[in-house]
Amino acid sequence: MLQDKPTIAELLRLASRLEAVSDSPRLDVEVLLCHVLDKPRSYLFTWPEKILDQKTAQYFNDLLQRRADGEPIAYLTGQKEFWSLSLEVNTTTLIPRPDTELLVETALQAMAKSDAQVLDLGTGTGAIALALASERQQWQIMAVDLVPEAVALAEKNRQRLSLDNVRVLRSHWFKDIAPQKFDLIVTNPPYIDADDHHLSEGDVRFEPSSALVSAHHGLADIEIIIAGAKPYLRTGGFLLIEHGYQQAGAVRTLLQNEGFVSVSTERDIAGLERVSTGCFQRSPQPL
Ligand SMILES: C[S@@+](CC[C@H](N)C(=O)[O-])C[C@H]1O[C@@H](n2cnc3c(N)ncnc32)[C@H](O)[C@@H]1O
Repeated sequence: MLQDKPTIAELLRLASRLEAVSDSPRLDVEVLLCHVLDKPRSYLFTWPEKILDQKTAQYFNDLLQRRADGEPIAYLTGQKEFWSLSLEVNTTTLIPRPDTELLVETALQAMAKSDAQVLDLGTGTGAIALALASERQQWQIMAVDLVPEAVALAEKNRQRLSLDNVRVLRSHWFKDIAPQKFDLIVTNPPYIDADDHHLSEGDVRFEPSSALVSAHHGLADIEIIIAGAKPYLRTGGFLLIEHGYQQAGAVRTLLQNEGFVSVSTERDIAGLERVSTGCFQRSPQPL
């Protein structure tokens, strides 16, 4: 039960209710309070005796209950920080992960061209495309997703961030993209096996399977992307794929079998193999 006329200090103490679902209960409560009050975190510590009006207190209590039921904080606030950007999120696609910043870093290092043409497959919130666009204003980036609501969300994020060098479209992987050549193709596709126990744990339970699950031990979408990428790459262009840490060997083999060269994998800060890269070199024409 929510007490009558609660103060900020009293509400912060409700963090104990989140101990069973969260590794950071105190932070979660602070984020929810900032969200309902529309104030920065410093406000909570400057005004601990401030009393919340009934409507705001009720809104906070509803969100706290949903968090106690396991809903991810980002879906409750509708926001997630990725790279240096604040992105709107919703339940139609994945909440961007800090892990995916490795893909952004690898892409920035791999591509020296100042005016590169880039494709982001399965853009979701637009996280990867928008992070790259914010770092390289001369790059032209196409971002596609199959889910119309995700396409709308990425476009909304693009407009909010005024990143005019990104174009968002609906496409089933390469199927609806007009023939053209890119210097760089990046993707964080669904790669979790349908039987993986992680799907029934934590925040992931609330995310759509369209963003998470892929057939054939999680590799089916990666296989489609690797098989379809070459006609869309310039010679010397790169394909960069985020994948599960146990899939690196399989992804490297798929890239090599498809004729990609300089195939390699980057490790995340935990030392796990998470992003694999292949370079496309057109075979010399027979004389
Ligand atoms: C793992 S999420 C990645 C989202 C975002 N790129 C990120 O890193 O946060 C995979 C995305 O691929 C999209 N997707 C799934 N199947 C697709 C397909 N056949 N064609 C295009 N996008 C697809 C999903 O809707 C989802 O947004």
